[in-house]
Amino acid sequence: MKAMLLTAHGGPDTLRYGEAADPKAGPGEVVVDIHAASVNGADPKVRRGKGNYQLNKFPHILGRDFSGVVSAVGAGVTDLKVGDAVFGVTDQGIEGAYAEKIAIKAAIVARKPASLSHAEAAALGLISLTALTAIEDTAHLKAGETILIQGGAGGVAGFAVRLAKHLGAKVITTASAANHAYVRGLGADQVIDYNKDDFTRIGAVCDVVFDTVGGSVRAGSYKVLKAGGRLVWIAPAPDGFQPDRKDVETLRPDVKRDRAHLERMLELFAAGAIKPPAIHHYKLADAAKAHEVSEGRHLQGKLVLDVR
Ligand SMILES: NC(=O)c1ccc[n+]([C@@H]2O[C@H](COP(=O)([O-])OP(=O)(O)OC[C@H]3O[C@@H](n4cnc5c(N)ncnc54)[C@H](OP(=O)(O)O)[C@@H]3O)[C@@H](O)[C@H]2O)c1
Repeated sequence: MKAMLLTAHGGPDTLRYGEAADPKAGPGEVVVDIHAASVNGADPKVRRGKGNYQLNKFPHILGRDFSGVVSAVGAGVTDLKVGDAVFGVTDQGIEGAYAEKIAIKAAIVARKPASLSHAEAAALGLISLTALTAIEDTAHLKAGETILIQGGAGGVAGFAVRLAKHLGAKVITTASAANHAYVRGLGADQVIDYNKDDFTRIGAVCDVVFDTVGGSVRAGSYKVLKAGGRLVWIAPAPDGFQPDRKDVETLRPDVKRDRAHLERMLELFAAGAIKPPAIHHYKLADAAKAHEVSEGRHLQGKLVLDVR
């Protein structure tokens, strides 16, 4: 049987369906029959060949996080078996989750609990790895600190709002007015309507800024940091940008894929500290429509492609 795969093919703006061979489980790998895959902010950039995402081999299958059921197990895999529900995120530099099947290292997927649907697990994959690495491993956010999370209604930022609140921080976030109730529901203590108010007017009150928006937002973000503060970023600053503060740190999280971080997310979920984001469902065949929403840059929560 061949799997039907969505591919970015040919020109930078075209999405089409193509056929690819059934993936096989190599040593240390499992094949997962995908039930749901999520759309991340990076996916349309990859499709357009923007920035670091120059593709040199087509067809290219987009997609980084997924949830599904193990359908084959490679040599040496002893901790997962056919029929196990699992979820995960493809290794850095590898994609392919907008598909019916994927072969992936067993060590970087985790068991999906029955309390999370496939759509919820797929939606939480990359955003949880990114937010946990940014907030816990990189910013080392502590109880009592103040954090400004730029773009709180987005996928990564929304998870970060819940996480930072759970860690005991005061959470300030930026969002457009339509998303204020949503981000307050995530736990934000203070919400700034960035369309109406200049967020830098809060002054230098933050121990940490988590910038998920980038561009001109980055420059302003330095103005709200206390001396010794940490700016953690995942969305790029304008070309040639140089911070004007020498008394703060600028940190880029190295978001590795591993089971440990997925299990950390599950531990937080089981404790009630985090919840799945708002999810907007699309069929795999409608991935192009989901990309249009993502590129609109005003998404609340996550877009999920229902594959099965
Ligand atoms: N490993 C990594 O480094 C990594 C991993 C994941 C993502 N990323 C990057 O991180 C960024 C965010 O990804 P994502 O998937 O979380 O994005 P997303 O879900 O598409 O987030 C979009 C959000 O940004 C908000 N927004 C847009 N302009 C804003 C502004 N000027 N100020 C405040 N909020 C604004 C929108 O909310 P409003 O409607 O309220 O404006 C929307 O909710 C992307 O650039 C992505 O490529 C990096």
